Amino acid sequence: MTPAREPAAPTPLATPTPTPTTVGATTVGAATAPAAPEARALPVLGSVLDFRKDILDAMHQGWRDHGDLVRYRLGPVVVHGVSSPELAGVVLTDSATYGKLGADNPLRLILGEGLLTSDDHESWMRNRRMMQPIYTKQAISRMFESMAASTADQVAHMAATYRTGDVVDVHAEMMRVTLDIVSRCMFSTDVERTRDISPEAVELAVNYAFDRLQNPFSPPTRWPTPRNRRFQAVMRRMDTMTYGIIEERRRAAASADRRGDGAPDLLDMLLDVRDADTGEGMSDREVRDEVITTFGAGHETTAITLTWAFYLLSGNREVLRRVQEEVDEVLGDRMPTMADLAAMPYALQVFEEALRLYPSAPIVPRLVLKDTVLGGHTVPAGSRLLVNLYNIHRHDRHWADPERFDPERFTAGARKGRHRFAHMPFGAGPHLCIGKHFALMEAHLLLAALVRRYEFRHVPGHRVVNQASITLRPRYGMSMTAHARTGAAGTAR
Ligand code: HEM
Repeated sequence: MTPAREPAAPTPLATPTPTPTTVGATTVGAATAPAAPEARALPVLGSVLDFRKDILDAMHQGWRDHGDLVRYRLGPVVVHGVSSPELAGVVLTDSATYGKLGADNPLRLILGEGLLTSDDHESWMRNRRMMQPIYTKQAISRMFESMAASTADQVAHMAATYRTGDVVDVHAEMMRVTLDIVSRCMFSTDVERTRDISPEAVELAVNYAFDRLQNPFSPPTRWPTPRNRRFQAVMRRMDTMTYGIIEERRRAAASADRRGDGAPDLLDMLLDVRDADTGEGMSDREVRDEVITTFGAGHETTAITLTWAFYLLSGNREVLRRVQEEVDEVLGDRMPTMADLAAMPYALQVFEEALRLYPSAPIVPRLVLKDTVLGGHTVPAGSRLLVNLYNIHRHDRHWADPERFDPERFTAGARKGRHRFAHMPFGAGPHLCIGKHFALMEAHLLLAALVRRYEFRHVPGHRVVNQASITLRPRYGMSMTAHARTGAAGTAR
């Protein structure tokens, strides 16, 4: 089936991309290498309006017209679009040349200096090392029960709310359940208090930050515009809630009055981590930033990909039948257990293919820290790079018939020989998504449980259009009818 955006295959590369003599941070020849081809743009504003209208569309067009490395101007800011696995691999693995965005990164307004937004390499490294053990595959498996409880509640909620054949906004439902999962895993018994962080509040904050990211002409944050004030009110509520829970947990830990059930949640673990050299833990501010980062990075991304997966399944009956057969055979009429996941590989392949076509974090930004040459072109210090996963996942040197939805691309055999950066929805290099195992386990579980209970059919006439913000959402939600599967007990009335 064809997705909403129907990009034509890129034209043969206008920009040849020779392998640099030294991969990554070489400045050899920087003075002589030409600048990357520049996308057509307006005087003064440059590509600001095109980016604001649809950044993915603008960058897709730039890629087709000019090749894998394209220069854009956003007012006074120079930005380069990176659209091949080869160049992306260079950029994402060389953090000495290509760093995180600096203090002007608008995402910092929400996430502070958590792992995702910190540009101080030393403190990022210290916190990443401390937090890594929390997010290993084995450690994450201890959160399966919380995820399964949320999933069961979601199935029950849908059964109580919808009759078979009713129209459901699958995007809204997926946001609801993934927010519940991250809340339970982070705060367990305090989960009710996180209801203040509604999906609408998160969306308002994310849109605000993204708008500032692509529009250098945004009014200063301290101006009392209605939009600034709405954003600040949302952030105040989030902070009050988070600092409140942190304080209570610290107090309880000091009086040895740990929460009753004994099973540590993500917040307990964040409060317990210690620097191996100094023995010091994280400050309240650091814990706050990591908590909000986990909420910000860890629920919408998974919700969106699940939404796209159900959309793709509804247009590909054969794939749908196969995944239904798999889950029916393994699960019968029960909810998935941890052990079941390994027996349902096709369901995971469906999710990975959805992540290819609709990478939920489609653009990974970097700041060029020193003059360098990338793909044969001079890239000056101070320029921003936008690694475009949406284009990379459709690159016709690496993907046959790239617009076709085909989970067979992710069998063990099909993965072999593929460029290691041709599929990288979780990024690559030292900043590889720390929540990858969390996301994959959660998505696998939800996909299997929901396919077992429901068949979602896309409502004819409902418009499906990408909206690339920091994430890649369906602009008008995802209207689908929910049909209880025969034999699935406890589903829609
Ligand atoms: C389908 C789901 C997800 C996708 C597609 C995704 C994607 C990404 C990508 C592309 C990056 C790299 C950013 C960069 O290099 O600048 C990243 C980083 C990150 N992600 Fe995820 N993510 C997902 C789920 C999660 C979850 C569930 C969590 C937490 C529980 C999480 C937490 C983070 C954090 C903290 C970072 C920053 C890592 C660092 O720089 O050290 N993500 N994610």
